[in-house]
Amino acid sequence: MPTATDPLLTGIQGIHRAITRALSVLVEESRKFGSQDSVDHKITEGFRLYAHTFCDLLHAHHDGEEEIGFPRLRAQLSAEAVATLAGQHQDMLPAHHAIQTFVAAPIPWPQETWRGIHRAALSLMPGWIAHRDAEEKLIAEASKDFSPREKAALAKDLEAHGMAHAGPGPLVVPFIIYNLEGKDRAAMCSLFPFILKGVLVPYVWRGAYKPMLPFLFPR
Ligand SMILES: [Fe+2]
Ligand SMILES: [Fe+2]
Repeated sequence: MPTATDPLLTGIQGIHRAITRALSVLVEESRKFGSQDSVDHKITEGFRLYAHTFCDLLHAHHDGEEEIGFPRLRAQLSAEAVATLAGQHQDMLPAHHAIQTFVAAPIPWPQETWRGIHRAALSLMPGWIAHRDAEEKLIAEASKDFSPREKAALAKDLEAHGMAHAGPGPLVVPFIIYNLEGKDRAAMCSLFPFILKGVLVPYVWRGAYKPMLPFLFPR
C-alpha cells in the first residue's frame, strides 16, 4: 500500500480507483435509465457531462502513461510488458469511442441510447480491470528502486500531462476527487496543492461540475 511518500503509486492508484468507480456508475446508471420510459433532461445532461469527463480522463491517463510513464520506466519494464500494456490501451478504444458516440446524441435519449451506453461500458469493464491490475503490479515493481525524488518527479510530470490533456480542470479534478471517498480521497488529495483542493474545487469550480453531482460521492 503506497503512502503519501510514494506519490507515483498513490497518484496512479487514485486515478485508477476513480476510473473504476466511474465506470461502475456508467454501467449501473445506464442500465437503470435504459429501463425507464423517460429520464429527466437535467439528469441526462449531467450524465452526459459525467460520461464525457470519464472519456477525457481515460484518454489522457493512457496517453500520459504511453508518452511519459512507460518511457521513463523503460530500463525497468521489458519491451514485452510495455507492448502488452499499450496493447491493452488500444483494446479499450472501441468501447471508449462507442460511449463517446452514444452520449453525443441529442437529448432526450431513447432507451436504445441508454442501452448502447450500458453495453459499451459493460464491455469495457473486464479489459479495464485486467489492465489496471497488471499495470499497478508492473509499475510498483519497476519503480521500487527509484529514489523518492525520482518518484516525485515522475508523478509531477504525469500530473502536469494530465492537467494539460484531460479536458477542463474544473471538470476533471472534481471528477477524480469526488469519484473517491474516505482514505482513497484523502490519499489522492494529499498530492494536490491547497489552492486546488481547498479553494478551486470546493468553491470556484462548483458551478462547472454541479450537473455531475447526482453521480459523484457526496462532497
Ligand atoms: Fe494504462
Ligand atoms: Fe493506468
